[in-house]
This record gives sequence, C-alpha cells and structure tokens, in this order.
Amino acid sequence: MKFLDAEFVKGFIRMANDGWEQGWHERNGGNLSYRVKKEEVESVKENFKPLEWKPIGTSVPALAGEYFLVTGSGKFFRNTIIDPEDSMAMIELDEKGENYRIVWGLVNGGRPTSELPSHLMNHEVKFKINPKYRVIYHAHTTNIIALTFVLPLTDEVFTRELWEMATECPVVFPDGVGVVPWMVPGGRDIAVATSELMKKYDLAVWAHHGMFAAGEDFDITFGLMHTAEKSAEILVKVLSMRPDKLQTITVQNFKDLARDFNVTLPERFLYEK
Ligand code: 13P
Ligand code: ZN
Repeated sequence: MKFLDAEFVKGFIRMANDGWEQGWHERNGGNLSYRVKKEEVESVKENFKPLEWKPIGTSVPALAGEYFLVTGSGKFFRNTIIDPEDSMAMIELDEKGENYRIVWGLVNGGRPTSELPSHLMNHEVKFKINPKYRVIYHAHTTNIIALTFVLPLTDEVFTRELWEMATECPVVFPDGVGVVPWMVPGGRDIAVATSELMKKYDLAVWAHHGMFAAGEDFDITFGLMHTAEKSAEILVKVLSMRPDKLQTITVQNFKDLARDFNVTLPERFLYEK
C-alpha cells in the first residue's frame, strides 16, 4: 500500500490539520506522535528507506522495536496536509529503546520533533499502564497558556477550575490535570517531569507554553485537548467580565455528577473554596 493511503497516516494528518485550524500551532508550534500498530507497520513496510541510527536523548526500553509516526522539528502543522513527506516521519526504535532511525518521510532532511524525549517517555508510561494508548499530542493552546499567568500552578487548582467551567469536563478527564512549572523545553528534564504526571493524568499543562494530551486514538486525544482548552477559554471569558463567579458547579454537584456518570473524582480536587 502507498504510505499516504494508509488510514492511520490519514488520521494523523487530519488531526494535525484540525489542530492548525484551532489556532494552536503558530509557526512550528506543537508536535504529534502515534505508536503504530504491528499490522499497520506491515501494511506500509514496502515504502521504507531506513536512514542512520541516532540517539533519542533518553531511554525508553519498554518501547524497544516500536514504530512511531511523528511531526518534524521546525515543521509547520499548517503544511502537514499539503506536504506530508516533508513535514513528518515514521521512525523505528532500536532493541534498547535508546536510538531511532527514520524509515519514511522528512524527505528534505531534518529530524523528529525536538520534544521526542517527552513524547517517547510519555508513550512509555502510558504503554506500561494501558497498551491501548497510542497518541501523544503537544499543542500551544492559547487559553490554557493564558491561565498559567493568573492561576496558581498546582494540579488541584487547574483541575478544579477546568472542571468547573464546563459540566462535561469531570466526565472527560476525571483523573484531573497535572501542571509542570516553567522549564526549558526540548530536553530530558521536562520529559521526566511530564512523564511523572502522565502516570496519574492524561493531560499535563506546561506553564507559559502549552499542554500535552495522551489517548488511545486520534479522536479521543484531540477531543481531550479540545475539551480542556474550551473550558479554559470559558474561564478566560468569565475572568475578563468580572473577577468572581456569581454561581458555579458546587462540590455536591460534582458528587451527583460522578454518581450518575459512574466516574470517580479524587477527593483532593473537591475542596471547599
Ligand atoms: P518542534 O518544531 O521541534 O516540534 O518544536 C515545537 C514546540 O512546540 C516545542 O515545544
Ligand atoms: Zn511547544
């Protein structure tokens, strides 16, 4: 099969374009990765032209031998739909999970996203908890970023505030949201901090930078990012109108919702204000 005819490749490109249309990917902002299924690898293998092995910059032994579709470093999400061969790559990890090689894409040179350590460490954490997780998505979500300048940078405050601004939020991300303080992007340190949070959450905010989301497929992961960012947008609008809320969803409301929707909401997010 031609590489670009594969459904998983089409799904990846559609998600990148959807993110661009949301306004979350100025210039080369954001990155996306997908852990490719064995049968999907087989279906496109005839197109592979392996390049040399290069270090990942961290080690992910649980992902040894896995293949990933990733966006390229410095590449624009805006261009993914019109020039996928230039904008993205399929990579293979070695038998130790320490090196990668490009097997398809980035035809005009370049390397996978500079956030590859964060993506792969998040994938590894999620894979160990639930091997159905396949997508890691980093976006420069405007309203979440704005909130990192005015809310305390704690998991408790971000989770509770996002839950409060849209009734569906506690159902969509009942485990909550983690917050990484400002750190230099692109390296192993921020990857370690983010992957620690991914042990508990599917969403991690990067202060003054953006957000990471993890999920089983493109729809779930995009939908998670979209839901959290929309909730942040509502909070930004409310705070722009007045500094306090006249009424909101109460702790008892959250408990009623949890019962009827059959989700468990951790007590530490249900504090009285
Ligand atoms: P890349 O272009 O290397 O993916 O970097 C974009 C980004 O958002 C860094 O955090
Ligand atoms: Zn970024």
